[in-house]
Amino acid sequence: MTAQPFLYVVVCAAGIAGDAHKLITAAQEQGWGVGVIATPQGLGFLDTEAIEDQTGYPIRSAWRSPGDPRPLPPADAIAVAPATFNTINKWAAGIADTLALGILCEAYGMGIPTVVMPYVNAAMAAHPAYGRSLDQLREMGVLVGAYEPHRPKAGGGADRFRWEEALELLEGKID
Ligand SMILES: Cc1cc2nc3c(=O)[nH]c(=O)nc-3n(C[C@H](O)[C@H](O)[C@H](O)COP(=O)(O)O)c2cc1C
Repeated sequence: MTAQPFLYVVVCAAGIAGDAHKLITAAQEQGWGVGVIATPQGLGFLDTEAIEDQTGYPIRSAWRSPGDPRPLPPADAIAVAPATFNTINKWAAGIADTLALGILCEAYGMGIPTVVMPYVNAAMAAHPAYGRSLDQLREMGVLVGAYEPHRPKAGGGADRFRWEEALELLEGKID
């Protein structure tokens, strides 16, 4: 690839979402252009101004109006980080009721390399739908981060959530 590759970082409403700037920094240091798509709930976890300053693009969360220009270049790869229980299950089931999910559901058919970095507690992860959804996403070729669910109501596991793993998983996947 000659042009700068472009990464979409899809941010869901998980407790760790406010640290998404760490992934953006790491990606930019590796030469990626980065645009952020937040779920409507995820938007509330982000410092919009800081992220937009960092990426140089507006955060996308809602669909544009017909005829409006596309705010972001097309994606060469997508990292869903952090990924919630909710968005993982809806994505695997083919539900596209947020812009983020619409982009993810379409990415499969477009063949865009995609990584999911779940950040979910063990009680949610015990729900049978969750394992089935991750299996479905793996079957679709989605690369899954290794984070092990944290204990519920115990402060989360931010210290062992490796943002840079998203980029490691994408290595060699871009033409
Ligand atoms: C403070 C706070 C922290 C949350 N942390 C998580 C989390 O770490 N993982 C998760 O799956 N859901 C978490 N949730 C629940 C999600 O925000 C909720 O399921 C929401 O509907 C997810 O929306 P989204 O998938 O469209 O981003 C949290 C909610 C709140 C209010």
